[in-house]
Amino acid sequence: MLANLRLLFPTSVLTLILFATCIGLSTRTNIETGASASAADPKLAEGLAAWEQVYSVMVSPRCINCHTATNYPQQGDDRHRHFANVIRGREGRGVPALSCIGCHQEVNADSTGVPGGPDWHLAPLSMRWQDTNNHPLSSAIVCRSVTDRSTNENMDGRALLTHHEEAALVLWAWNPGRRPDGSMRTPPPISHEAFLAATRTWVEAGAPCPRGK
Ligand code: HEC
Ligand code: HEC
Repeated sequence: MLANLRLLFPTSVLTLILFATCIGLSTRTNIETGASASAADPKLAEGLAAWEQVYSVMVSPRCINCHTATNYPQQGDDRHRHFANVIRGREGRGVPALSCIGCHQEVNADSTGVPGGPDWHLAPLSMRWQDTNNHPLSSAIVCRSVTDRSTNENMDGRALLTHHEEAALVLWAWNPGRRPDGSMRTPPPISHEAFLAATRTWVEAGAPCPRGK
């Protein structure tokens, strides 16, 4: 009896180890597949294609002007430095003399050209989508960043989808109001509906990220 148990025990431990290794290996292949496996896996290919649409919005001026890598916001389609030397300050809300909400109200002020939205402030540096030389980060890097729960306020795919659907500062991008000269600001390259649909397709495919840098 005792001998049997001794025999049984190591075998089951071995089985467990083998099992765990298999899981480990299969997760690894999932992560590492990326674009090259896309032909073999239509859902993955669809997910990666949808991600490129999501990315095209994220790095458009209306979004990236708040997702900067510097200590200041940007403005305009040419993403120039915010006027009046406005700086990031504590928690992206500016400094007491020049706080964001000192000028930016809850809604666009079209008569003066100040865009607005609830709690208007800069995204934290951990959510930057450009480098310090003003170049948008690559699709692969932005993808890894928004799916890294240590830098994105612990959002999973579902939470990202909800953010894209409901967050006031995201919605603002499709209702960006008038510039000080009275002309309309440019919205992102695709409609909010198309952006949401692409986010959903990407999340449902497991939020895959392209390979590389
Ligand atoms: C002194 C008033 C003032 C302060 C303070 C201020 N802003 Fe602005 N901001 C403006 C005005 C006016 C515009 C519109 C400029 C334009 O479109 O030419 C603007 C535009 C912007 C835009 C550009 C929108 C776009 O996509 O073109 C962003 C982003 C922005 N501000 C973020 C901030 C943040 C974040 C803060 C606080 C850290 C801040 N602003 C503080 C007045 C201010
Ligand atoms: C006025 C500034 C502002 C604008 C414009 C803005 N964001 Fe953000 N964004 C933020 C802030 C601030 C956060 C941090 C979370 C919070 O406080 O809501 C954030 C967080 C996020 C996050 C989660 C962070 C991450 O890296 O995982 C996503 C996704 C996001 N924004 C998408 C967008 C998209 C897409 C647009 C344009 C359609 C956009 N944002 C426009 C300020 C902005």
